[in-house]
Amino acid sequence: MHDNSSLISKRKKEHLEFCLSDKVSFREKTNGFENYEFRHFAITEVDISKIDFGTEFFGKKINYPFLISCMTGGTSEAENINGQLALAAKQLNIPIGVGSQRQALENEEFHNSYKIIRKNAPGIPVVGNLGASQIVNLKSFDKIKYIAELIEADAMTVHVNPLQELMQEHSEPLFKGFLKAIEKLVKYCEIPIIVKEVGAGISKKAAYKLLNAGVQGIDVAGAGGTSWSGVEILRNHGDVNNKFWDWGLPSSYCIRMVSKLKNKFDFTLIGSGGVYDGFDIAKAIALGADITASARIILQELNKSGIEGVVNLIKDWFDTVRKIMFLTGSVSITELNYDKIIRKEKLY
Ligand SMILES: Cc1cc2nc3c(=O)[nH]c(=O)nc-3n(C[C@H](O)[C@H](O)[C@H](O)COP(=O)(O)O)c2cc1C
Repeated sequence: MHDNSSLISKRKKEHLEFCLSDKVSFREKTNGFENYEFRHFAITEVDISKIDFGTEFFGKKINYPFLISCMTGGTSEAENINGQLALAAKQLNIPIGVGSQRQALENEEFHNSYKIIRKNAPGIPVVGNLGASQIVNLKSFDKIKYIAELIEADAMTVHVNPLQELMQEHSEPLFKGFLKAIEKLVKYCEIPIIVKEVGAGISKKAAYKLLNAGVQGIDVAGAGGTSWSGVEILRNHGDVNNKFWDWGLPSSYCIRMVSKLKNKFDFTLIGSGGVYDGFDIAKAIALGADITASARIILQELNKSGIEGVVNLIKDWFDTVRKIMFLTGSVSITELNYDKIIRKEKLY
């Protein structure tokens, strides 16, 4: 095996191990959703039994506005995890992302760890994944086509993770030329390009530049959930009091700010980063997200209770969203909007 490839595989394994624990949560910073209250509507006439969460994700019909976020691939463990997550996604008819496909660019050893998703869930939207540093360094975009075809991807996600790269040993915090590369990638790729963070959030200014470059989806992946700075600090046996552990823009802030760009651009806004229950999902949607997503909590649930556990968790979350919609007088997901929440400072 190529040295670089085995290094990536080892790193991926360690990421999985740390993410199965709660040690890598943000310390003090939260996702920000607790700053909002729902606007209770005492004379609701919503028929709770008729609420339908069905929506579209890049041209495919899905049953819930929820994506199982990009997590793994490129290790021996990943095939089993991705296979099970894909079966859960299939049961729910929701989209799923694969973890970084960088390893698949290096060699074919773990190709099955990605392919299993499409094999287990032929009809659902599947999203590919590569890092910003790979995009900047690519000589030709043919390789992107190759990894997209590997999973018959409906869209391709590029993750931007300057904080994580900065905190990583053997790091590559070199992103010069990224925006130009994204602009070219959008032109070259036949499938939509989504850009996501990994837990430090995408600001309105960053989103504006990405959308101007032609990107069709923004996944804010804000602060408040998994701290990737924390993961790297623990991997390097670094100082757990390092203040960069809690660096980043809270998810609620990112969603609220980036959604303002809906006036100017047509794009899918994915609200993620510490989305841990039905209340978080409902608030993310009310703040402007088209669809929500979670990563680590799903991995933990899979580890604890298997495929059925993941399916039941997501169904439970949406039962809660249903109740919130009833109590706020929201017949549909589009009616669950900014009018249905109040910033707490304005409550009293
Ligand atoms: C085990 C694990 C591996 C991850 N690997 C990737 C990856 O390869 N590519 C990526 O874009 N994001 C990756 N992420 C980041 C998530 O997609 C997500 O943006 C981030 O963890 C914040 O969401 P959370 O708070 O729900 O965990 C990973 C997350 C986990 C838990």
